[in-house]
Amino acid sequence: MTIRHFLNLDQIAAQDLEHIIGQAIAWKQAGRDSHAELCQGLSLATLFDTPSIRTRISFNLAAQQLGMHIVDLDAKVMHFAQGKETLADTARMFNGFVDVLMYRTNSVQKFTELIEQLTVPLINGLSDMSHPCQIMADLMTVQERLGHLQGLCVLWVGDYNNVARSWAHAAAAFGFTLRIASPDAYALSRAEAKALAARGADIVRFRDPFAAAQDVDVINTDVWVSMGNSNPEARTVTLEPYQVNESLMCKAAEHAIFLHCLPANRGQEVTNAVLDGTQSAVWQQAKNRLHVQKAILAWCLERL
Ligand code: CP
Ligand code: NVA
Repeated sequence: MTIRHFLNLDQIAAQDLEHIIGQAIAWKQAGRDSHAELCQGLSLATLFDTPSIRTRISFNLAAQQLGMHIVDLDAKVMHFAQGKETLADTARMFNGFVDVLMYRTNSVQKFTELIEQLTVPLINGLSDMSHPCQIMADLMTVQERLGHLQGLCVLWVGDYNNVARSWAHAAAAFGFTLRIASPDAYALSRAEAKALAARGADIVRFRDPFAAAQDVDVINTDVWVSMGNSNPEARTVTLEPYQVNESLMCKAAEHAIFLHCLPANRGQEVTNAVLDGTQSAVWQQAKNRLHVQKAILAWCLERL
């Protein structure tokens, strides 16, 4: 039987992704009692190589609210991180104890090593390459705020990073256009753009953020220096013209919303006026991590 890993949005059927978001919205509206025993007695382990606040809290609470037990681990206290046990043997250990594993890593290769041995589902809680759970919460937020996803025009401004890549993976499944405005040094490559287009994604690359922002429905950005990035000074200088400020927001449609996965570096990639402004949906977006991750857990555990 196929294990339902949740690793990347381009590896999961579009109807499953839609179902997860629909269920998350329905559970949010219905309240906790509607699903409190859905995964009663099952166990989740969360494992972090790198810092987290939103992903950690939301997965822990999501599992609790489904009736699950939780084991919350930092890699630094585990043998594999000190070279004293292989990741493969660590995976075998998880198989014996838990029903699903969520892992945040700074090296996507570690997912491959784990999966070779895992017999339980693995959820990508962020890697250097993607952040699919975040984008599910982002899409849920857009659906709630604007009523639909199909046919929208979404702008990603700044570094084409792990979060941006998951947006690109979602474009084909949900039928929106994704504009990406980045400097050449931190842009979506032509080869990756071609591969995404071949899978049906409508992605348009820009250098000029102001041209890209014209009439868009959503403006979305993230930090210029992600966990594990080197050369923070050079990145900051190159990405400076890509700040989301009020002048950029003015180019978007009047109903446009602003998204940021957080944590934000206030005054760098986004100004306080935008982050705290009326178009900002960032706190709703953060809270939706809880709701959408309940549905992701239920999907992985075949309760959806
Ligand atoms: N957005 C997000 O994943 O936040 P954390 O790093 O705090 O988990
Ligand atoms: N791109 C950021 C996202 C943090 C949630 C990082 O990887 O550090």
